[in-house]
Amino acid sequence: MRTRITYFLLRIQHFCNMIRLLNIVLTVLLVFERVGNISTSRFIVGGYFVAIDDFPFMVSVRNATFFYCGGVILSPRVVITAAHCIFQDEGLLVKAGTDDLRKNGTIGKVEKVIKHPLHNGDLYDLALLKLEEPLEYSPQINNVTLPDFSNEIKVKEGISIGWGWTQIPEDDTNHLRAIKLLVEDVCRDKTKSTFCVNHFRGNACRGDSGGPFVSDGVLYGIISSGPIPCGNGLPAIMVNIPFLVEWIKTNANIL
Ligand SMILES: *[C@@H]1O[C@H](CO)[C@@H](O)[C@H](O)[C@H]1NC(C)=O
Ligand SMILES: *[C@@H]1O[C@H](CO)[C@@H](O)[C@H](O)[C@H]1NC(C)=O
Ligand SMILES: *[C@@H]1O[C@H](CO)[C@@H](O)[C@H](O)[C@H]1NC(C)=O
Repeated sequence: MRTRITYFLLRIQHFCNMIRLLNIVLTVLLVFERVGNISTSRFIVGGYFVAIDDFPFMVSVRNATFFYCGGVILSPRVVITAAHCIFQDEGLLVKAGTDDLRKNGTIGKVEKVIKHPLHNGDLYDLALLKLEEPLEYSPQINNVTLPDFSNEIKVKEGISIGWGWTQIPEDDTNHLRAIKLLVEDVCRDKTKSTFCVNHFRGNACRGDSGGPFVSDGVLYGIISSGPIPCGNGLPAIMVNIPFLVEWIKTNANIL
């Protein structure tokens, strides 16, 4: 019996790992599904292509050949992303200053990664990336603004952006998209390290992306995961940035 259970658990673990890998590949489908579906959504009130000039803090987290996740510029040498986005210590890059994944943009080499020490599964899914060289600010490259410390998310809605894949092969997934999301009051985890947003029905499986949830240029969340099964209408999970802002400030300074 025990063997069976163990085997079963191993299978589940394997399955979860597969799902997680898939996530990284698919990133936040739930956030970036094609615009056509957005209007049919119960929750989403808009989805659209955006220019980097409107979100100059947005970067992609990647290596030389592969795009993993979104990330957010905190200072010229520090980028915030989700901890689970970090798959490799060597060769990790960020690309800033472009809304198109195909364009060269400005590449920053990651020198050091600091994951939140309490990171465990969906909780405290936060990491800071220190760059070898400071990013040069421009109209397309700038920092986000951190919120004040708070347990709660004080805004009712915000915008998430990213380069998540869509299911439509012809869709242009290389271009940055934004979507408006509403903060969900009912689901809070005990640690307060996460909060939820509602999204339209989509087929992301726990899409994880490291991209931002912002309101008026202030960073309230980092996209962490979406629900299983795919597209079941449950909320997506964000890292609660106001709650973790002191950790961010402390660790960004000592990087
Ligand atoms: C980039 O990441 C992909 C996916 O994890 C991996 O297959 C590839 O080897 C990596 N490339 C480099 C240059 O590290
Ligand atoms: C982009 O990078 C490629 C490869 O490094 C280079 O050949 C090309 O000239 C660059 N394009 C621009 C517009 O800088
Ligand atoms: C980021 O830039 C804004 C101005 O755009 C500034 O007010 C803020 O203090 C900067 N840094 C952080 C960490 O918020």
